[in-house]
Amino acid sequence: MRWAVLVGGTGSNLRALLERGLTVNVVVSHREEVGALDIAQEFGVPCRVILPSHYPDRVAYDQALLGILREFCIEQIALAGFLRWLGTPIIEAFADRIINLHPSLLPSYVGLHAIERAFADRVLWSGVTVHGVDEGHDSGPILAQIPVAREKQDSLEEFRARIHQAEHRLYPEVALAVDRAEVSWHGHEVTYLKEDAKWMYGR
Ligand code: GRF
Repeated sequence: MRWAVLVGGTGSNLRALLERGLTVNVVVSHREEVGALDIAQEFGVPCRVILPSHYPDRVAYDQALLGILREFCIEQIALAGFLRWLGTPIIEAFADRIINLHPSLLPSYVGLHAIERAFADRVLWSGVTVHGVDEGHDSGPILAQIPVAREKQDSLEEFRARIHQAEHRLYPEVALAVDRAEVSWHGHEVTYLKEDAKWMYGR
C-alpha cells in the first residue's frame, strides 16, 4: 500500500513507523521546521509542508492536501501529530483508510492534552489507542489498545514517557497489519484476518 504520514511535531511515531519497516511514500506537515521533517529526510522520504496560513480557508487547505495525496497516489494515511481537522472531502476520499494514534484508552480523554488530563485525574491506568478516523472527534472504530500504568511515584514526565513508549510499540504494529490487510474496517465494523489479532497487538 502507498502510505502518507501526516505530521506536525517531533515525529517520534513517524520514526517508529519507518524503523519498523513501513514504506512511507510521502510525509506531509502542517508546520515547518519540526523534527518530523528531519526524520523524513533522514529516511529519504519525500516531504511536503502545507501551512494553513497560506490558504484562505479550510476548503482550499483540504484541496491542497488532497492534491498532494493524489500526486503520490496515496492509498492509506497515518496521522502522527497532525493537529489539523481533516475536512469532509478528505475523509470521504479516504473513507476507512485513515488511522490515528491517541494517547489514552478511548473513549476516555477524547481531544487534546489527554496525557495531562489523565495524570491530573490520578488515574491508575491509561493507555494508547489506534483507531480509524471518521468525521467525529476521536470517534472512529477502535482497532487496537494497550493499557499503560501510572506508577505511584510517576512524575508527569515519566508517565508521558511510558505512554509514548507504548505508542511507538503499538502504532507500527497496527500500521503494518493494515498494510498487510490483516485488519480492515467499514464504519465501526472492524475485521481482523487472524481471529486473535485484536487481542495480540502491542503485547
Ligand atoms: C503522539 O503523542 C500522538 O498520541 C498524538 O500526537 C503525538 C505525536 O507525537 N496524536 P510525535 O510527533 O509522533 O512524537
